Amino acid sequence: MARARSIFVCQNCGAITNRWQGRCDSCQEWNSIVEEIAEASRPTRSKGGRLVSLEDLSGQGEEAPRIATGLAEFDRVVGGGFVRGSVTLLGGEPGIGKSTLLIQVCAALARRGARVIYISGEEALAQVRLRARRLGLADARIELACVTEVEDIVATCAAGGSAALVVIDSIQTMQSQAVDSPPGSVMQVRASAQALLRFAKTSGSALVLVGHVTKDGQVAGPRVVEHMVDAVMSFEGDAAHHFRLLRASKNRFGATGEIGVFEMTGLGLTEVANPSALFLAGRDAEAPGAAVLAGMEGQRPMLIEIQALVAPSALGTPRRAVVGFDQSRLAMILAVLEAHAGVKLSLHDVYLNVAGGMRADEPAADLAAAAALVSSLTGAPLPADRVYFGEIGLSGAIRPVIHTEARLREAGKLGFREAMLARAQQIGDEISPAGVVPRAIPDVASLVAMVAQSAPAKA
Ligand code: TYD
Ligand code: MG
Repeated sequence: MARARSIFVCQNCGAITNRWQGRCDSCQEWNSIVEEIAEASRPTRSKGGRLVSLEDLSGQGEEAPRIATGLAEFDRVVGGGFVRGSVTLLGGEPGIGKSTLLIQVCAALARRGARVIYISGEEALAQVRLRARRLGLADARIELACVTEVEDIVATCAAGGSAALVVIDSIQTMQSQAVDSPPGSVMQVRASAQALLRFAKTSGSALVLVGHVTKDGQVAGPRVVEHMVDAVMSFEGDAAHHFRLLRASKNRFGATGEIGVFEMTGLGLTEVANPSALFLAGRDAEAPGAAVLAGMEGQRPMLIEIQALVAPSALGTPRRAVVGFDQSRLAMILAVLEAHAGVKLSLHDVYLNVAGGMRADEPAADLAAAAALVSSLTGAPLPADRVYFGEIGLSGAIRPVIHTEARLREAGKLGFREAMLARAQQIGDEISPAGVVPRAIPDVASLVAMVAQSAPAKA
């Protein structure tokens, strides 16, 4: 009898080794290698290959009609609706709202008369029902089951007509008889995903796999599944804030870069059609130290407020603290302000915060951050109806960034009248889209001079 063979699998990246190691050679992660039982090797009988017919590209393929859910923010990210037979991985930290989002998606599709199946491997039927009732979706015709055996799921879904959508919540709880490893291990996740994938491709049902990702990567990462599926989406946000971002990082049937914005309320997730308004709500435009960035999240313009606080330091080494901003970018902006505009901050504590729990990672945020810093230092509030975007170079020059027009249009939509940007920015009209007046600024020294003009006289 063949002895079960042990292999050692990195739970982070899926690399396989023959012996245990403290650190994975391939992804350099510590303590991620776990012993698993290899799939029983089947004796392979060699036989002559079967002839497959070769086709040309221009041939008529099965058309890919999209199944739109009617949730505009969701459809936008998947590329206009689910493609038949496509497999999507929805990743996100536990508790972020993946199950809530998917039950709402299922209900929306079911309301349109489609057959949808929701398989929960994590929660009991009662829990799923309770959530649906809380969301006011108890009457939606969703077919529910709480199972974890992949073979049973495939058989169940195949019976009773083809479903438009099958949701598996979550892939880490699934187990396939083909593999001996425990649920959640890389081997099991991979085998289960493979079986479900095969089902989706043959049945034509769109399949959504939920995958938990934890910050420390302890749970077998759904990363091993990422290359198998057609689309990878992540659901992001932090527990302290109500908004959630749905982002596609891979999509064989649509653009990546699209994001969907939702707000978690007591009645589930609601779509946020105008995220800029949400992020700017409650802004104190009169206070010094706040600048509005006309930013981009993927393909979507989004206005966010950047707040700075500059205060004399009592410490030998002044503090530099950031929330939602890159620490080294702040250091660079401070250095440029000091070197090219004579703004001395070496005796000041500096805090920089991106309001609403957002992150401002693009270089275009430099100009807004610098304006907020100078405004806080001088005590001069910035004009309430002005947005900022531009990258700051080490020479102190303000450099142009992409998507000028989209940024200006978004600013105009939200009632802003001025935009401060780099001089070389391509702008078609004098007063470009939506009545926003562009004010080109060459370098940080001009920025400082402009902000300082309106500073209150020092006592
Ligand atoms: P859930 O969808 O279970 O998260 P996941 O599947 O990603 O683990 O959502 C969990 C959180 O969402 C939970 O902590 C409570 C919150 N929530 C609301 O705020 N409002 C609601 O209507 C629902 C259903 C959940
Ligand atoms: Mg869940």
